[in-house]
Amino acid sequence: MAGTQRVGELLDWATGLLEQAGLAYGHGTANARDDAAAIVFHALRLRHDSAPRSYRGIVSDAGRRRVAALLRRRIDERIPSAYLTGVTWFAGHEFRVTSDVLVPRSPIAELCLNSFEPWIDATRVRNVLDIGTGSGCIAIAAAHALPAARVDATDVSPRALALARTNVRRHRLGRRVRVLRSDVYGALRGRRYDIIVSNPPYVPAAVVRRLPPEYHREPKLGLHASHNGLAIIARILAGARRHLEPRGILVVETGDTEHAVRRRWPSLPFTWLEFEHGGGGVFLLNAAEL
Ligand SMILES: C[S@@+](CC[C@H](N)C(=O)[O-])C[C@H]1O[C@@H](n2cnc3c(N)ncnc32)[C@H](O)[C@@H]1O
Repeated sequence: MAGTQRVGELLDWATGLLEQAGLAYGHGTANARDDAAAIVFHALRLRHDSAPRSYRGIVSDAGRRRVAALLRRRIDERIPSAYLTGVTWFAGHEFRVTSDVLVPRSPIAELCLNSFEPWIDATRVRNVLDIGTGSGCIAIAAAHALPAARVDATDVSPRALALARTNVRRHRLGRRVRVLRSDVYGALRGRRYDIIVSNPPYVPAAVVRRLPPEYHREPKLGLHASHNGLAIIARILAGARRHLEPRGILVVETGDTEHAVRRRWPSLPFTWLEFEHGGGGVFLLNAAEL
């Protein structure tokens, strides 16, 4: 790094360093360049919307040291960059993240951006439930996209719930997003929703064991589900009819567990959604199909 002076040069150097380190991406950034940018901009306290103008800025010695320290941790400890910077983006919104929650990355972001259309008439959505809210990203993005809706954001992890509350406060959505502890539908007796959405834990134990070290920095409760990854999905499906409005929809991310889901419920008429910006393994069912 000796002699590096400008932000752009520091960014190129950091990218090269990450590329050589053989890291895993997919925690809010897709490659070494994006990861390096997240770290460099955070450490130098630059705004992402100032790039590429800021590339010509001169880096102070202190700034360079901060960048180097974060890169070291990223490489040596395999900590996802979002945990190092404490922030990430989801559906165009900024969220606080800590290692108490999964780093937001669900393709459900795209559905939120589209107000869940064309799958539901967004103007008539009044109540949304997000099961396993983690940082609160899906619940909050849905609330932004559906300004007439109230959203229940649930989780079993007290630490996740605390962070979700912080994000709800930061987004000034306290009046419409309720964060509550609930084991799947456990605390929601009698409540019905127009949209039930969930990115639940769905990774089988054997697969978790083989994941790159970055994933082992995330809470296991956010990734692993028993019964071949199907345990929580099965409970979401079992209770959906009782908690959906007659014209409501259920949207669930299942990732690579999609194949096991198809095998386990061969007669359910799942619609497997396609995404413009990548990702898959998300099914949709309407109340009548359940
Ligand atoms: C894959 S993470 C998703 C977090 C967030 N919705 C996102 O998309 O980034 C799954 C979340 O489900 C929560 N969870 C695990 N078991 C649960 C259960 N039985 N009931 C409710 N939430 C649960 C975990 O604590 C975790 O926050």
